Amino acid sequence: MPDVARSVVAIFKQKFSREPMVIRAPGRINLIGEHTDYNEGFVLPAAIDRAIYFAMAPSDTDRCNIYSTDKDEGVSFSIHDLNPGETWVNYLMGVMDGFERKGLPIHGVDCVFGGDIPVGGGLSSSAALCNGFGFGLNQLYKCGLDRLALAKISQYAEHEFVSLLCGLMDQYASLFGKKNAALLLDCRSQKHEVIPVHLTDHSLLLVDTKVKHSLASSAYNDRRKACEEGVKIIREKNNDISSLRDVSRILLLEHRDSMAPDIFAKCLYVVEEIQRTLQAAELLKIDELVKFGRLMYETHWGLSQSYEVSCVELDFLVALAEEEKITGARMMGGGFGGCTINLIQNDKAKAFKEKVIRQYAVNFNSQPEFYLVNLVDGVSLMNDKREYLQP
Ligand code: GLA
Repeated sequence: MPDVARSVVAIFKQKFSREPMVIRAPGRINLIGEHTDYNEGFVLPAAIDRAIYFAMAPSDTDRCNIYSTDKDEGVSFSIHDLNPGETWVNYLMGVMDGFERKGLPIHGVDCVFGGDIPVGGGLSSSAALCNGFGFGLNQLYKCGLDRLALAKISQYAEHEFVSLLCGLMDQYASLFGKKNAALLLDCRSQKHEVIPVHLTDHSLLLVDTKVKHSLASSAYNDRRKACEEGVKIIREKNNDISSLRDVSRILLLEHRDSMAPDIFAKCLYVVEEIQRTLQAAELLKIDELVKFGRLMYETHWGLSQSYEVSCVELDFLVALAEEEKITGARMMGGGFGGCTINLIQNDKAKAFKEKVIRQYAVNFNSQPEFYLVNLVDGVSLMNDKREYLQP
């Protein structure tokens, strides 16, 4: 067990004098396929070796007593009084509410959690938070939900308690991740294909801009609306179209004049990104990393110029990667800050990092952070159930 998990367990025992169930919920990266999930397209994410760890046990009442080790903050609430508020508690209340709406027989829990996923870095710490908590409730109260149902409850929490109309990618990747592999997730059928990732002489290096724009979630929801608007226009003459997944480049071009230029640009990016993701998955299967990397750059400039979800810091880091002939780089996740993902040659990593540090300081007067990530299995129980059930 990593030190951070051990310390979560120790704090739980100290606070609640019992043996907890221990759960690991990882963050995620996305290799390619950005802003395609809520358009029923394809994405290629993976779970990573940064996680939130949960120590949980039934509270034997209808109250949840929860403590975050990272924030050094505790809350207590009744499962009958769940109202969206301002903090991280929202996510947990949202998950609880999701279980209740399904009529599942849950009660309160005692819970301590903490981890090493940077918050606001675009590594889906919020999906990990919801998934880990939901996974724990499901186990403790024997609700019998499968992983897809848990992913949807986590998404429900984001939609209803945080007002972010996200797709399903983050929750799904954190739950279904596979060691040393990415998931080609079809967001329409909600099924995935496991694609082994052979990095050979490359690594996955994230560079965290440390930037987070406060309007990111309303801008995210606006992008979603723009896509829906485009679909509505196309559907007027093609009623078999239900999302951008159904729209080919040619069909979109035929409707160019009936759309505002901005809507057209956003839809074109998505239609192209869905195809690019499928192409990238084929390249990954045959270990064509160089061609894969080119597609990552294409995605980035599409996100920056057409979809308009990048920011100067992200553009700067990707342009620098391109200049340094790094195999692939792009902004990752919702945008407006967070990390770039770099598919980097091992022998270039050291010099690249040094250059980024120097140039980032000159341009933005701040320091980015670097995370080298490995691909791991999705949410799991860390201690044996028998051990947990011992009095
Ligand atoms: C965020 C959302 C995801 C997805 C990405 C963009 O991470 O939570 O559902 O839309 O942005 O690809």
